Amino acid sequence: MNNNANNRDLELLRIVAIGSVDDGKSTLIGRLLHDTGLIYRDHLEALPKSDTSPEEVDLAFLTDGLMAEQEQGITIDVAYRYMAASKRRIIIADVPGHEQYTRNMVTGASTAHLALLLIDARKGLLEQSKRHLFISSLLGIPHILIAINKMDLVDYDEQVFQDICRDVIDFAKKLKIRDLQFIPVSALKGDMVVSRGDKLDWYTGRTILTYLETLEVTGDLNLIDFRLPIQLVLRPNQDYRGYAGTIEGGSVKVGEEVTILPSKETTRIKSISVGGEKRKYAFTPQSVVVTFDDEIDASRGEVIARTNNIPHTANVFEAFICWMDSVRLETKQTYILKHCYKSTRCTISTLEYKLNVNTLHRQKNTKTLKFNEIGRVQIETSSPIFFDSYEQNRNMGNFILVDEATNHTVAAGMILPKLHSKGSSLSQKPPQKGGVIWFTGLSGSGKTTIADRVFKELKKRNIPCERLDGDILRDSVTSHLGFSKKDRELNVNIAGFLAERLAAHGVIVLATFISPYRKDREQLKERIGNFTEIYVNAPLEVCRSRDVKGLYKQVQEGQITSFTGVDSPYEPPESPDLEIQTDQDSLDDSVSLFMEWFEKKNFSGN
Ligand code: ADX
Repeated sequence: MNNNANNRDLELLRIVAIGSVDDGKSTLIGRLLHDTGLIYRDHLEALPKSDTSPEEVDLAFLTDGLMAEQEQGITIDVAYRYMAASKRRIIIADVPGHEQYTRNMVTGASTAHLALLLIDARKGLLEQSKRHLFISSLLGIPHILIAINKMDLVDYDEQVFQDICRDVIDFAKKLKIRDLQFIPVSALKGDMVVSRGDKLDWYTGRTILTYLETLEVTGDLNLIDFRLPIQLVLRPNQDYRGYAGTIEGGSVKVGEEVTILPSKETTRIKSISVGGEKRKYAFTPQSVVVTFDDEIDASRGEVIARTNNIPHTANVFEAFICWMDSVRLETKQTYILKHCYKSTRCTISTLEYKLNVNTLHRQKNTKTLKFNEIGRVQIETSSPIFFDSYEQNRNMGNFILVDEATNHTVAAGMILPKLHSKGSSLSQKPPQKGGVIWFTGLSGSGKTTIADRVFKELKKRNIPCERLDGDILRDSVTSHLGFSKKDRELNVNIAGFLAERLAAHGVIVLATFISPYRKDREQLKERIGNFTEIYVNAPLEVCRSRDVKGLYKQVQEGQITSFTGVDSPYEPPESPDLEIQTDQDSLDDSVSLFMEWFEKKNFSGN
């Protein structure tokens, strides 16, 4: 359809256009094709005139007229249209916006650089547009362009445009979207599609065509993590063994050390050829043939990666799947999972929840997924696959499920970063191990202040923790106790008992008690498994001068007796796990000191 002989060399932009005919999507695509001069003249003259305005051609018919050029993907519903702008080739996957949107979008969008979403300026952000935004974000489409269409029907009013932008941005905050842009257009009249028109002067941004021509997409490629899944082994004679495939991420140089999965054999790249020509290096998304320094027997479906940056290997992982078959998901059934060039049997071991795409609500306790529904699942494969999360690398993180009996593609999936492993070498995060962290020191030394701050820090890190404090305990459980040696021993023992029970359930207990007697603390140390002692040290004079609770004053006035450090002993720890000197370190420094110690201490499982 394009007579530019060199168009194969132009950069390729893949667009998925989403919206219903009512939003004017066909008209917009038709306008793009028509105004860029890609429609034959006789075809144009044959087109019916629009109902509303006889001199305007009904551009929606144009795209329908192009249906013959449709290239079919997995589904029959996604129509691909091709155009060549001055700088690049553009493929538009035209996805119907009606109820089958989910499956169609997953099919049309998995390789798209850009989602072009239409919103009718008169209607604003409807449920349907929210769905489209959500799925675009789920599919990790790097760029989203919102064309706010039918501006002619709202008098080209800037305020209408701004209001819709604000609504979309508000909604988009809940989603993971990297790049969101807006253009006001009238697909029918042509404003801001290819030419600017003269009605939208308040808008100074790009037209749709300029946007499509200038959108920077090379930055979307993952150029860091080198991944080459082997598609084909070339063995023309005994002396040559080449591995062919498309680089799905990163780049590679001759001489570089690589590891082949799953064997984990390492070797160096001996040669690279791209399109039959020898190269020193190659990068994604080039198709290449590489050879190795050593004789390595790798086969289709195995993955070549740089030695110090290899993908995950696992047979259990979590994913979002979109169900695409009229027969529902069966959690007990075996399916074939196809990932890169590898196929393996699998079962959906858990259906965690179904996503309501309209409300974003998670519906738990669901047993199955129907056609078009999206669910979060755990999948178990019979042999491990080598992958990255979809978020990290769309090519290495997507898969399809095929029904063995019917050979239908029943689902498309996106692997999530959270990993599990059964019997594979993946490192699992060990569970949190509980422990008692016992702060001892004079009244006014700063135990409570430090522990309260530490408590917040641990909470921020989602570490289960609890506070036990002398004043609070003495206000409740141990209110009957005084400050004799015996009463203090009892007080400390009760606190220790509670702390121990909590720690047994994985809780980090921050206990702040003067606990002046060494013997009492030693007993706790012996009794409680994971017990550490923090000495919060400040000279009596400093504590007295702080006198936060006014107690030192009362002691001086003779209202309180047996006060620790004054007329009752304090026996400092001989070898505390950590000593914090609050007369020397600021509160912030004290907390940092503690956190540093805590991180090193490693309270997690092993
Ligand atoms: S301890 O007996 O276990 O070492 P605990 O930490 O529970 O003491 O309680 C100390 C708190 O009780 C102090 O922070 C202070 O507010 C209050 N208190 C009241 N009288 C005394 C006293 N005689 N000695 C120490 N603290 C006292």
